[in-house]
Amino acid sequence: MKKDMPIGVLDSGVGGVSVLKCLRTMLPAEDFIYLGDTARTPYGPRKEEEVRAFVEQMLCFFDEKRVKLVVVACNTLTVLGVETLKKEHKFDIVGMSKGAELVLAASKEKKIGVFATEFTIGTGAHKDAILAIDPTACVAPIACPKFVPLIEGEKFASTELAEAVTEYTDKLKAAGADTLILSCTHYPFIRKEIENALGNDVNIIDPAEETAREAIKVLAANGCAKTQGQGSTTICFTADLDRGIRLAKHMLPDTENVFKLVNLK
Ligand code: DGL
Repeated sequence: MKKDMPIGVLDSGVGGVSVLKCLRTMLPAEDFIYLGDTARTPYGPRKEEEVRAFVEQMLCFFDEKRVKLVVVACNTLTVLGVETLKKEHKFDIVGMSKGAELVLAASKEKKIGVFATEFTIGTGAHKDAILAIDPTACVAPIACPKFVPLIEGEKFASTELAEAVTEYTDKLKAAGADTLILSCTHYPFIRKEIENALGNDVNIIDPAEETAREAIKVLAANGCAKTQGQGSTTICFTADLDRGIRLAKHMLPDTENVFKLVNLK
């Protein structure tokens, strides 16, 4: 892999842009190609077989782009097991951090909530990762299926979003959690709303930075980190380019990006 090859970042929709933001800050010289499958989002309610087929199409897109690394900026796809996605692809693949050490370090009472899609929660992956480090921890996994459609639908100031936030944060409060991990990359788009509902008593953890650190490690191990110059970003969506652009600008308001509509084979 050569240093000047780009890094691919993928998600079911716009959510992974929250990870892209972090990657760009930590790796300013790298060139990024983001791919969000806005035509088929959300992935959370879908079956495993279907999302496996979708992610394979996205990885083939990155074969053509000759990327040196792909960051799967989607927890729903990460819990499939990134090692099972590698197949014949030449690039390495980094998935979302489960953030188990982070939440355990942040939680005084070891009472931890996990917000994620129903697919992610169904696998139990985050709970297992936390309990593997501290079996005495108390973990409350909470599926939040209403969030992604509301975010993708740009319903930020809506009653529906306010009600969904109340519904899920009430469950978290009932569980007595003092720490919450946002284990869906869409949720940082509504972090403020979640924070306002929870007040100051709950630490909110976004595993994006930890994921970016993992990507940096892999680039260093492969000797292909680009450290000179200013990197570029191309953001591709599979549908609704204008909506994608508006949503991406929530996370990356002050940056110059190239936006493209693409078709997956
Ligand atoms: N952003 C994704 C995640 O981190 C998936 C959301 C979805 O498509 O349901 O899980």
